Amino acid sequence: MATTQPKPRDSWGSKLGFVMAAAGSAVGLGNIWKFPYTAGESGGGAFVLIYLFFVVFIGFSVMLTEFAIGRHTQKSAVGAFKSTDRRWTFVGLISLVSGLLIMGFYPVVGGWSIAYVYKIATGLIDAPATAGDTFTSFISNPIEPIIWMTMYLLLNILIVIKGISGGIEKAGKILMPTLFIILIIVSVKGLSLPGSGAGLGFLFTPDFSKVDSNVVLAALGQAFFSLSLATGCMVTYGSYLKKKESLVQTTGMVIAMDSGVALLAGIAMFPAMFALGVEPAAGPGLVFVVIPQLFAQMGGTIGFGLALLFFIGLSVAALTSSVSLLEVAVSYLIDEKGLTRMKAVVVSSLTMVVMCVFASLSLGGIGPTLFDTGVFDIFDLLTDKIFLSVCGMFICIFAGWRMNKEDLRNEITNYGKVPFRFFELWYTLVKYVIPFAIALVAFMGVKAGFDSGKGEIMALGVAFIGLTAFVSKKL
Ligand code: TRP
Repeated sequence: MATTQPKPRDSWGSKLGFVMAAAGSAVGLGNIWKFPYTAGESGGGAFVLIYLFFVVFIGFSVMLTEFAIGRHTQKSAVGAFKSTDRRWTFVGLISLVSGLLIMGFYPVVGGWSIAYVYKIATGLIDAPATAGDTFTSFISNPIEPIIWMTMYLLLNILIVIKGISGGIEKAGKILMPTLFIILIIVSVKGLSLPGSGAGLGFLFTPDFSKVDSNVVLAALGQAFFSLSLATGCMVTYGSYLKKKESLVQTTGMVIAMDSGVALLAGIAMFPAMFALGVEPAAGPGLVFVVIPQLFAQMGGTIGFGLALLFFIGLSVAALTSSVSLLEVAVSYLIDEKGLTRMKAVVVSSLTMVVMCVFASLSLGGIGPTLFDTGVFDIFDLLTDKIFLSVCGMFICIFAGWRMNKEDLRNEITNYGKVPFRFFELWYTLVKYVIPFAIALVAFMGVKAGFDSGKGEIMALGVAFIGLTAFVSKKL
């Protein structure tokens, strides 16, 4: 068992192990559950294009920055900022809070996902027409989803207790490729249905008349969420990464896998939806409604088996992500508060349980609301629309304006051993372009949020960040 006293920093067993673990964190419900329904609600092709643009120009740069900060300081999220300059501790704190808010609803959806393994196994796809109603009544039930969420959390805890190289790495290595193959099979099936072409058109033909500030902010938030950025996760993972590995190459591989899976999930779902007559803007139930119907169409043991595998794969992808979320909180408590791994796991998972119970109940209309928004939606809205992107902005400002440029160059090029041709471009993006771009997109998005009744909560998020920055300076 880990102790609190000086110990060699646990590091990744192999390069592949690291890439798979970082990709395991990135690839999750964000790609397969959130990306398709957000694309559906945001008008399709134009959203997808803007999202990809943000992934390449902002996501890549921010991920590289986070790895560099983590490996340079050899600290997890909060410590990385604090050890450089106490006045910047707030950036670490905000990323911790973002991670915490995601932990407040992610396991709820993870629970749905394992529940669907059970539901498929016990005959859900025999009555495909009712898939929509089944989903709605399931998630609004006060008890059932909470039981599944608890089981899901227990799985997380088991993995995290085992520590870095033992638990997370192994799970990622075996199970990620499996999921990828299942998605390909699902895509082929969806594309073979009559009428599926319109779905591909929806996903890949941009119609910019559907783009407003809401859509742009949603695409930015989706990029951050999907890549596990701005939650301290990649900073922490970077701190575990060996000095000889190439940060640029690692970043490239993680980004490629994450976007690949998101696009594949879109290709798996939209053609099938158009063929089956499901509304693209069906919301968070999308994957849970479409996939069972799709496999029901396939019929027989094959349809049943694939549906089962799909939800097992989704659960595993979710697990490898939430495990890394939990790990951020756990390593904060170990590194900064001196807790043992065991105690840290208990404290963070209890916090997670409480938040998730409220989040789950809110979907059945139970519990507190703020500006007519339930707990689940508040957590989602705050992280997706405010915390992640604003925190990403501060991470860039920190790297560009507070860190030493030569330190960054040395970290990213391993002291000149792995040249990075675009270093200057990356540096310019991080120092000037990205902070400005995020500030603009966030400002416009919050402004537009007031028209859709969500502005108040977003503004509260901004105020919270401002307050954290102010208060932590006094500490
Ligand atoms: N990227 C994860 C997904 O797509 C979700 C996520 C966001 C996350 N931030 C994170 C996971 C931080 C781990 C750590 O499902």
